[in-house]
Amino acid sequence: MAVKITWLPMNKTIEVDLDSMPYKEHGKPHSFLDVAKNFGIHLEHACGGNCACTTCHVVLKKGEELLSEMDDDEADRLDMAADLTLHSRLGCQAVIEKNEGEITVEIPAWNRNYVGEGGEAELAGAEKKDD
Ligand code: FES
Repeated sequence: MAVKITWLPMNKTIEVDLDSMPYKEHGKPHSFLDVAKNFGIHLEHACGGNCACTTCHVVLKKGEELLSEMDDDEADRLDMAADLTLHSRLGCQAVIEKNEGEITVEIPAWNRNYVGEGGEAELAGAEKKDD
C-alpha cells in the first residue's frame, strides 16, 4: 500500500509506502518533513523538526483526514505562523497515519521565499539546519 502525495507549487507527486520508509531523524516519523527528507523535497525546518519554529508550515489542499490530529504544542506554535489558514499544519508535526489515499499539500509562498528574504539571519539563534 502507498499514499500519494502531491507537493505544490512544484506539482511533484510521489508515492510513499509508509511501512517501508526509513526515518530520517527530522520531525515526527511519517511527518511531512520526514517524507520530504526521504524524497529530496526542500521543506524548511529551521528548528530541526522540534516544533520550535514555523518554517515547516504547510497548507493541506486534500487528504487532511489521513493525518494525525493536531496536538496543543503544534497548535500553539502554528499560531505564530505567517499566512495561517484553517488547513495549516506544521510539516514536522503532522503525521501521515493512513498508508493509502491521496494528499495534496502546499508550501506557502512565505516559506518558499524564506531564505531569500533573510530568514536565516533572523533565526541566528535557532538550531542549525542540516542542509
Ligand atoms: S521545523 Fe521547526 S516547527 Fe517544524
